[in-house]
Amino acid sequence: MTFSDLWRELEPIGRDPRTGGYRRYSWTPADAACRAWFTRQAQQRGLRVEPDNNGNLWAWWGERRPGAVVTGSHLDSVPDGGGFDGALGVVTALAAVDLLQAKTFYPERPVVLAVFTEEEGARFGVSCLGSRLLTGVFGPDAARGLTDEGGITLAEAMASAGHDPGRIGPRDDLVGGIAAIVELHVEQGRALAPMGAAIGLAEGIWPHGRWRFDFTGRADHAGTTRLADRQDPMLGYARTVLAAREAAAEEGSLATFGRVIAEPNGTNGIASAVHAWLDARAADEDTLTRTVTTIRSSAERSCPQDGVTISVRQESYTPAVRFDPVLRDRLAEVLAATGVNAPVLPTGAGHDAAVLAARVPAAMLFVRNPTGISHSPAEHADLADCEAGVRALAAVLEHLAGPK
Ligand code: GLV
Ligand code: MN
Ligand code: MN
Repeated sequence: MTFSDLWRELEPIGRDPRTGGYRRYSWTPADAACRAWFTRQAQQRGLRVEPDNNGNLWAWWGERRPGAVVTGSHLDSVPDGGGFDGALGVVTALAAVDLLQAKTFYPERPVVLAVFTEEEGARFGVSCLGSRLLTGVFGPDAARGLTDEGGITLAEAMASAGHDPGRIGPRDDLVGGIAAIVELHVEQGRALAPMGAAIGLAEGIWPHGRWRFDFTGRADHAGTTRLADRQDPMLGYARTVLAAREAAAEEGSLATFGRVIAEPNGTNGIASAVHAWLDARAADEDTLTRTVTTIRSSAERSCPQDGVTISVRQESYTPAVRFDPVLRDRLAEVLAATGVNAPVLPTGAGHDAAVLAARVPAAMLFVRNPTGISHSPAEHADLADCEAGVRALAAVLEHLAGPK
């Protein structure tokens, strides 16, 4: 099948007709439809699909044995996400298998197409949850207890999708059998376009994390409560948003409050509580720590003046990642031999390949994003660049899994 045929099939699944954005949250019907689609496609290519105990899908081309070359990405999305983030890596992996099978290539080392679960952390709050559970950097008990906005636990969500949450946990047998992982991803940011390059290689990922801020005040009447008598948590929240912007500008880092829940969320009432999530990223860990400490101290200093209490909890943290330079140089040579000059780029976005990079040689290919926009329905990559991504990935897999 061509890339376009595959893309057209996946495209409608989980797309909101009103916004045009994707809502492919893990363990929902949209997620199940994506999994079923991938399973069917992999099986049609003669791959054996084996879901693991953490909800990740593994499609094996060749016997299951050590030395596997893994590619793939994720099919879940952020709220109203773009169509390319994650999906591009999965669709190009299937299309690359087609290219290789068309030239009767058969891998000497198994090629595995992986679909990682809950990469965005959009439903249960922890990004790259599937790969963190696989590698053991996030514990099974903590994972089972994670809740979504409706109070449903991950354990309940998995069980209702027919998966046993009692089996969640690290899989050293799987991780230990991986010789290399190469994740292809849409570029998030706009570095390739000005360089005139369709394909890039990842250098590293900024350290990043998520912190939950709970501002607690007192619910009261918006029309009768004197300003002096209010304990309005919205004020502390608003000041903290501004403090985050200032701290990030000062430090040269990034700090974003993109998710907020006001309780009880009534127009004519003062909120009783505001829950807000800070996403912070920086080029190095000291800068990230300073940024978050400044924002947190500012909230702790300003809230008492409004009679509001504040508590802050880190929900996830990913240290700085440097992708394997030896593997990257090898891939650069493979691409150069096909006439592709791939610039090496740093990024602030997290990926499952980066979680696995702590344990196995890992690399990433980026496909040019002409506007740089991502985590938005406006995210885009041109068809010709996606097809270049398929050819690049096929060349890389052929090199890594072919005869030595
Ligand atoms: C993943 O998309 C991230 O938030 O970095
Ligand atoms: Mn993403
Ligand atoms: Mn992604």
